[in-house]
Amino acid sequence: MTATAAATAATARHLYVHLPFCAHRCGYCDFVTVLGRGDQHAAYVDALLSELELERASLAPEVETVFLGGGTPTLTDPVALRRLLGSLPRAAEFTIEANPETVTPELAALLRESGVTRVSLGAQTFRPELLEVLERRAGPEDVRRAFYHLRDASFDNISLDLLYGIPGQSASDLERDIEDALELDPEHLSCYELEAKPGTRFTHAHGEELVSQAEAMENYFERVVELVAGAGYRWYETANFCRPGREARHNLAYWEGRDYLGLGIGAVSTVAGRRWRTKPSLAQYLAALAGGRRPEREVELLDAVTQRQERLILGLRLDEPLPLADVEPVLSVEALARLEGLGLAERRGDGLALTRRGRFLGGAVTAELLA
Ligand SMILES: C[S@@+](CC[C@H](N)C(=O)[O-])C[C@H]1O[C@@H](n2cnc3c(N)ncnc32)[C@H](O)[C@@H]1O
Ligand code: SF4
Repeated sequence: MTATAAATAATARHLYVHLPFCAHRCGYCDFVTVLGRGDQHAAYVDALLSELELERASLAPEVETVFLGGGTPTLTDPVALRRLLGSLPRAAEFTIEANPETVTPELAALLRESGVTRVSLGAQTFRPELLEVLERRAGPEDVRRAFYHLRDASFDNISLDLLYGIPGQSASDLERDIEDALELDPEHLSCYELEAKPGTRFTHAHGEELVSQAEAMENYFERVVELVAGAGYRWYETANFCRPGREARHNLAYWEGRDYLGLGIGAVSTVAGRRWRTKPSLAQYLAALAGGRRPEREVELLDAVTQRQERLILGLRLDEPLPLADVEPVLSVEALARLEGLGLAERRGDGLALTRRGRFLGGAVTAELLA
């Protein structure tokens, strides 16, 4: 279905903004990205701000979180980036994703002056040979330098992204990566298993290897949790760890099934039971918004059952129990009894959560719980 203008309630307190530009396309990545195009950054920011005006009715008067994701948001032309940051709503948590090689003292200062409160830095690994496998541009020293530039600019909420399951990565490589990350003392860590995304160069080159190591990855995952939680971080979501009070509030909104508005190419919005995804074409996006029209989107209406199913799938990624009342109609009582007996799920008061073992199995347990 293609959307035309549609009225939505002003319920979104969370704003996502997609900045797609990258200097190089990493072989493992299937995010919506556009190479270079420095001459179009200003026009893209104009388009984002026009789209924001068109969608104002979906945004609540008070926005709690803003997240600028990519792509490489910090590659955006600095004049255009400053203008964008100055025009977006203020928020208590304002995150930007950054690639280490783009973080200079000047960029860190620009972000700080412009109201950014949190930076998510894509480290991936500290092993030079594995960074090469990933075709990353930044070396381990670039990651450390970027981190210190952000600290020097007074950022007190920095997250590092790490990947595990990189072809050629041994268990001790992973342990040293965690040690190197912890040495920087970030407030937040995201540790993702490297996924073979269909159609990427990486899957073509390493897909079979990734499939054959899938079982070993369960041990890697357990080791990640053991080391990071052992260092005092809270394992608050399947792939995420934080110091007290430093959860990614924007991502929590997704996991808790809250409404959010997304701007930019490929961005997804979910507002008042309606979900739309903007087509990932830069040319179409710029042309539509320059003409004052909404860009083309795919729209899906979420019925109550789908909303509850999503609530269960996403909510059980968290360590805090999910209110049973939110999911009871889609929950299999028999499966719950069986999983409780196996020590994989448990009722806590009026809530439902996975046990530690259940969280390691993750999606498989959740799938069984769905009636
Ligand atoms: C939007 S992406 C990219 C952010 C930034 N451009 C960078 O490369 O550091 C955010 C995170 O998703 C993770 N990611 C990207 N591709 C992945 C894949 N194929 N499997 C698992 N995680 C992936 C990476 O850890 C990355 O830092
Ligand atoms: S991983 Fe990051 S830098 Fe690499 S192509 Fe994807 S978004 Fe761009």
